Amino acid sequence: MDNRPIGFFDSGLGGLTCISQLMKTLPDERIIYFGDTARTPYGSKAPSTITAFSTQIADFLIQRDVKMIVIACNTVSATCLDELSARYPDTPVIGIIKPAAETIAEICTKDNQIAIIGTKVTIKSQAYEKLIHALSPSLSIHSVSCPTLVPLIEEGIIENQIMDLSIRHYLDQFISYHNIDTLVLGCTHYPLIRTNIEKLYPGISIINPSKEIVKSIKKELTDRNLLACGSTFDNTFYASDLSENFINMINRIFALSEFRIAFKSFDLDVQK
Ligand code: DGL
Repeated sequence: MDNRPIGFFDSGLGGLTCISQLMKTLPDERIIYFGDTARTPYGSKAPSTITAFSTQIADFLIQRDVKMIVIACNTVSATCLDELSARYPDTPVIGIIKPAAETIAEICTKDNQIAIIGTKVTIKSQAYEKLIHALSPSLSIHSVSCPTLVPLIEEGIIENQIMDLSIRHYLDQFISYHNIDTLVLGCTHYPLIRTNIEKLYPGISIINPSKEIVKSIKKELTDRNLLACGSTFDNTFYASDLSENFINMINRIFALSEFRIAFKSFDLDVQK
């Protein structure tokens, strides 16, 4: 048993979609979350920049004695998971792409036409394709980057025609040309626009990696005997720029949760 918190981070508020899933499965766990809202989006930045920012944040979490680091960001997972794992040999570091790839390889067949949508960096890395094809080489995978979606979500432009038009700009032709039947939300921000996507493309199966990563977290904590017991819901959310939208989004995500969340503090605590 280990009641220390789990450290989560993302370029902004997207990683919160992993936490809302975690609360349902492991309600005793405490969380420290860091959203790099001052420097979001990461998805069009150079890998060296993403690695430098991520290392800074992971160090921040390690200083707060987390028992595990969860990279709640596909872009960071695609860029520097191995570097971060090597940097903290005594702390498990979990990326989001591998657990999702394992589920896709398990539930999809060669008759499916699978789409990965994500940031430019994630799509260019082909991290999903490599991991899925290592497990199931015959699967048909297509991918497309959707770079305007994260900035719109960070601005809270969601239930809105501008968001719907942006989604259609990237996906209308892509989905019909490839006959897509399965869509992977390869960016942790995208579960926040899942309703828009389902409305625009009814009938498509959606795979949400933010849900899949929780299975990995649970397994790793169980295998290492690190599960928490009797936590006080003492969760802390940090942002490098504590915007109104960040706070609103946290309230919005956790308003749907059955579990009581205590917001201990919001600190501006990294160099921009
Ligand atoms: N949530 C991040 C991801 O999963 C978004 C990256 C960005 O900041 O562009 O890739």
